[in-house]
Amino acid sequence: ATERTFSILKPDATRRNLTGKINAVFEEQGLRVVAQKRILMSKLQAETFYGVHKERPFFNDLVSFMTSGPVVVQVLEGENAVAKNREIMGATNPANAAEGTIRKLFAESIEANSVHGSDSPENAAIEIAYFFAGLEIVG
Ligand code: CMP
Repeated sequence: ATERTFSILKPDATRRNLTGKINAVFEEQGLRVVAQKRILMSKLQAETFYGVHKERPFFNDLVSFMTSGPVVVQVLEGENAVAKNREIMGATNPANAAEGTIRKLFAESIEANSVHGSDSPENAAIEIAYFFAGLEIVG
């Protein structure tokens, strides 16, 4: 079924001017950008967004990284968009990412891994609502 997922182009990607190249990969593989904006994430937004990771050893570094420069937050739409986007992104650690995936192509490290994508339809709905008003999403 047609589905929506939430995506972030992370500061390592915007710093290297990769917004268009990464969007081209999504579009070539059948995902449509139905909402998009470039923002500076606040510390509170990053801490809240990554709240499930707050006990992890990498949490503070992750929040610093995600607030270190502009990010592009997006809503992607397509058939099985959540799972499809996870395939397109590749493994969290670029060392384990398959050929042709965004993280294999572009990621610098497990932290600076260029993109975030929702891990389930339930979380996609929560993450989309955290960053976008309904009227900002044009399917
Ligand atoms: P993301 O999919 O945005 O979800 C959590 C993020 O934490 C992950 O991508 C990475 O950018 C970052 N991260 C940093 N270190 C680790 C780690 N050891 N394991 C998982 N995620 C990590």
